[in-house]
Amino acid sequence: MAVHILDAMARGGFEEVLALYDERSGLRAFLGIHDTSAGPAFGGIRRFAYRDERSALLDCLRLSLAMSHKCALAGIAGGGGKIVMMDRGDLDPAQAYRHLGRRIERLGGRYYAGPDVGSGDRELAWVQEETRHVAPPGADGPGDLAAATGAGVFAGMRAALRQLDGEEDWPRRTVVIQGLGRVGERIARCLVALGVHVVASERDGERLERVRAELDLEVVPLGEEVDVSCDVFCPCAMGGTLHDLTIQRLAARIVCGAANNPLAHRRHGELLRARGILYLPDFVVNAGAVIRGAEFHLNGSPTSIETIEARIGDVAAGILRMAAEEDASPAVVALREAERRIRRRRSEARPARSR
Ligand code: NAI
Repeated sequence: MAVHILDAMARGGFEEVLALYDERSGLRAFLGIHDTSAGPAFGGIRRFAYRDERSALLDCLRLSLAMSHKCALAGIAGGGGKIVMMDRGDLDPAQAYRHLGRRIERLGGRYYAGPDVGSGDRELAWVQEETRHVAPPGADGPGDLAAATGAGVFAGMRAALRQLDGEEDWPRRTVVIQGLGRVGERIARCLVALGVHVVASERDGERLERVRAELDLEVVPLGEEVDVSCDVFCPCAMGGTLHDLTIQRLAARIVCGAANNPLAHRRHGELLRARGILYLPDFVVNAGAVIRGAEFHLNGSPTSIETIEARIGDVAAGILRMAAEEDASPAVVALREAERRIRRRRSEARPARSR
């Protein structure tokens, strides 16, 4: 089915979507800029083996919009953007990332790039050869972004437990983590230290065995995570894992994780609520990395992990409180609040400037 790109942009309120192609490196990518009314569009570069161009474009739109929601709720002076790159056999990664760097530089600071799935320090270093508008990798950069994300997700779990039970009481909790990557592993480490019973899945067998042995985790086979009875289901792999079938089986009281867009569709927020499951949206709790990366760029120093945890904890608690008062789902309330802030920013808009 064709994507009517201008209609999709109008529906989501996008400023700009670029299709990027480079014959020499085999680069095929989309760059979405959702909102620059309060400052640059912040967002990572995702490299993934998309099935086709349509899936890549739709992911670009979804992810850049979610970045705007994240920035608005976290109070960051900037909006959302995203690059998605199609990972294909003929791609020359080093040349492709350098090409992206040149294209980002030409945007003059409207878009500021960071890491994402498939793009870590090595890839950002290639981008940095060509542009200033990228989070510097390594010691010159904003520091551990996955730790910042993990801290925000943990703060969300605390807020949700307090909302439901009035206390955290970690030693009697069970948390299921789907995906023990950079963020999932950090969350597991933090929870194990608090005495939580952590059950985890991970697609990469070697990684799973390393983390399992070190933290003494219980392992659940792939695809069976939702069947485990637990306090919190914490999706930290890819998006789209919560849909009609998995939500029917989900045996958790709370969903709070790092994965972007874990709901296959917005209406699944309502389905979770109908099943009595408290859902804290991804863009509320996984903003730690963008807070750190964006504020490093804007202020020249990274925001501390403690500050990030406290800020996200406050926002999450506020959304949960409003949702309870209105008898509405936190997903609906969070989206409405984010959109309200974006509308206000746009009505007060000044054009974004580079640093
Ligand atoms: P990562 O790539 O380091 O980890 C993801 C892990 O999930 C990998 O180890 C992978 O093998 C595993 N995995 C993939 N599919 C799986 C499945 N079906 N079942 C179980 N495991 C599976 O990524 P990272 O950085 O830990 O991010 C996790 C999620 O959080 C991603 O969706 C990412 O977009 C999102 N996120 C990450 C941020 C960050 O600071 N790293 C910031 C905001 C969102």
